[in-house]
Amino acid sequence: MTSIPDGLNFNRDLSRPIRSFVRREGRITSAQQRAFTEYWERFGVEADTRLLDPERLFGRSAPWVLEIGFGNGESLAAMAAAHPGVNYLGIEAHRPGVGHLLLRATELQLTNLRVMCADAAEALKKQLPDECFERIQIFFPDPWPKARHHKRRFIQSGNVALLARKLKPFGQLHLATDWEDYALSMLDILNATPELANTVGGNGFTPRPSWRPMTRFEQRGLRLGHAIRDLLFVRAAPGGY
Ligand SMILES: C[S@@+](CC[C@H](N)C(=O)[O-])C[C@H]1O[C@@H](n2cnc3c(N)ncnc32)[C@H](O)[C@@H]1O
Repeated sequence: MTSIPDGLNFNRDLSRPIRSFVRREGRITSAQQRAFTEYWERFGVEADTRLLDPERLFGRSAPWVLEIGFGNGESLAAMAAAHPGVNYLGIEAHRPGVGHLLLRATELQLTNLRVMCADAAEALKKQLPDECFERIQIFFPDPWPKARHHKRRFIQSGNVALLARKLKPFGQLHLATDWEDYALSMLDILNATPELANTVGGNGFTPRPSWRPMTRFEQRGLRLGHAIRDLLFVRAAPGGY
């Protein structure tokens, strides 16, 4: 294989998109595997090309929140349990994490949570309607710290433009990370997205909201001595802000 300095690999299949995750199926436990058999029907949403209808999905009309990359789903389950009047959709590419959340959602008897095991970038393009979410949250997305891997980061201008389109007017985009350079890059990308405005004004991060439950990767970041940064932007109303 030819070695190319910037990490480009001409043997890569160019018809395949660059993904923000790597699938590691090996580590699924038998309980998580069983959760797919027993509880998928109750909570699961298939990844396909049909546009989702929130009223059919939840059997009611209520504010809708999307979480992308929920990991093991503990913080998403805690939020859904704490806010029964809100509908939550979680999208996670890692099957063991989805299995873990199916178990927790069953234990908590949640009726306001639905789950997709999919690439969120694909779901945003094919299945999620425009202007439907009160909030989209992405907590501690994979930082892909090596410069040659930055192209794998989920927070890129193309994905952010899509996220902005999926928010209702004045809907919120909430991001958090423990990686300083990713935080600064997020801030630049969000500031450069005309549909979004920073809730703290100027060019800054927002103080960590007390209502955001601690996540597994946040705990890991704190153990490593990393500073945590939250970003909270809103979608401007059509025709101006
Ligand atoms: C670093 S973990 C953070 C998990 C969790 N939010 C937390 O804070 O503990 C990032 C998660 O995002 C998921 N992920 C990355 N890209 C994704 C994508 N395009 N669609 C869905 N999930 C994705 C990964 O599988 C991983 O579980």
